[in-house]
Amino acid sequence: MSLFLSVKYFKFTDKHKPQNKHKMTKRTIVALPGDGIGAIVLKEAIRVLDAAGYKADYVYGDIGWDFWCKEGNPLPQRTIDLIAKHKIALFGAITSKPKDDAANELANELQGKGYVYSSPIVTLRQHFNLDICVRPCRSYKGNPLNFVRRGKNNTIDEPFVDVVIFRQNTEGLYGGVEWTNPPAQVYDALMTHPKFRDNFAWCPREELAVSTRIFTYKYTERIVRAAFEHAVKYGYKSVTVCEKPNVIRETSGMMWKIAKEMQKKDFPGIKLNNTNIDAQMMWLTKNPEDYGVIVAGNMFGDIASDAFAGLIGGLGFACSAQFSADGIGVFEPTHGSAPKYADYKVSIVNPIAMIESACMMLDYIDEKPTAQKIRNAIAEVIEEGKVKTYDMMKLSGCQEVIEKGAASTTQMADAIIAKLK
Ligand code: NAI
Ligand code: MG
Repeated sequence: MSLFLSVKYFKFTDKHKPQNKHKMTKRTIVALPGDGIGAIVLKEAIRVLDAAGYKADYVYGDIGWDFWCKEGNPLPQRTIDLIAKHKIALFGAITSKPKDDAANELANELQGKGYVYSSPIVTLRQHFNLDICVRPCRSYKGNPLNFVRRGKNNTIDEPFVDVVIFRQNTEGLYGGVEWTNPPAQVYDALMTHPKFRDNFAWCPREELAVSTRIFTYKYTERIVRAAFEHAVKYGYKSVTVCEKPNVIRETSGMMWKIAKEMQKKDFPGIKLNNTNIDAQMMWLTKNPEDYGVIVAGNMFGDIASDAFAGLIGGLGFACSAQFSADGIGVFEPTHGSAPKYADYKVSIVNPIAMIESACMMLDYIDEKPTAQKIRNAIAEVIEEGKVKTYDMMKLSGCQEVIEKGAASTTQMADAIIAKLK
């Protein structure tokens, strides 16, 4: 029963996916280098894709800090048009800065004209309604950064982590519906709630800051269903809702209720668990091997995915994919632009998170064998242990790590390419 539904669900999304009807014609991928190390790791990922035999045409899209400074818009309309046309984007990373810094760095001729900076990646998610964010955290055998814990009789255990976080990507605490000194209608509406009247009425309106946590049934249902479908498709035994329904009764409560009903009706073969986000942060270092698919709202999903990424090597290994219902897919490493490493003569950052994100893209566009080939090559390089970037050597980042034997970004990509079979 659940298998049938799984197929049905994926047919629904597949219908909207950009189809590669003629495998011989090359697909066009929108490459979004962005800022800092984003551009560096993207270049290496494209080199690996190419070496693995995946040939595409890459069109480069403008995004990031330079475009904010020069044009007053870090995500120009021409980039949005490119993504709308080609549907698939590989994205490096961007730099975001606080409001005042952003205003100061704007070109002179644009100053004082009402330009307001907002993060282009958040804009991208909202514009294309990229509501489903998938962040796998899987340990590679032999990775010196793998989490270890003390076992019985003082042994050292290295539990195998294979967790996939499904994060609702457009709503919740990151939805942007917030006020400092809320307008009168908002304040009056808040005053209709007894908890607000009892606990916050003492505070002058101008000293109030309010960020809302909005969940809609439609998109909560979609993220929970996507999590169950993934569990069925890839053989995970459980789905864990990681929220806090005992306290955040309305929003977390809605996700938990949807998950319970859905499991009963459509996925009886998948075990459903409920953990609170705070307890989950404690449990993950005790029994990470007990989790399979995790589903959460925007902020808790963000927290859980960073936390699990820490068990498998951190930012150099954390990849992600974001999808919309109409088939747009944006694939990016979880890390940012790491500006302090951006201008090194020889780049030292780990390209694996970006390369893994490119593999998620290949999975999505039905190029799974190529994705697997690349993942196997990464696994071999890591297990062999000869080529390691500075993070894998537990060095603090500086140009001298190369003399200490750390691989450069390019050398790591070369090592992966050399293992492609
Ligand atoms: P970050 O992720 O850029 O870097 C934090 C630290 O993690 C780095 O200093 C480095 O030590 C390490 N690191 C990151 N990527 C690595 C890699 N591939 N290999 C090895 N080590 C790596 O986060 P940070 O410093 O908080 O933010 C820098 C800028 O990036 C900010 O402007 C921020 O707004 C932006 N950012 C952008 C994101 C995006 O484009 N999706 C996500 C996170 C931050
Ligand atoms: Mg994060």
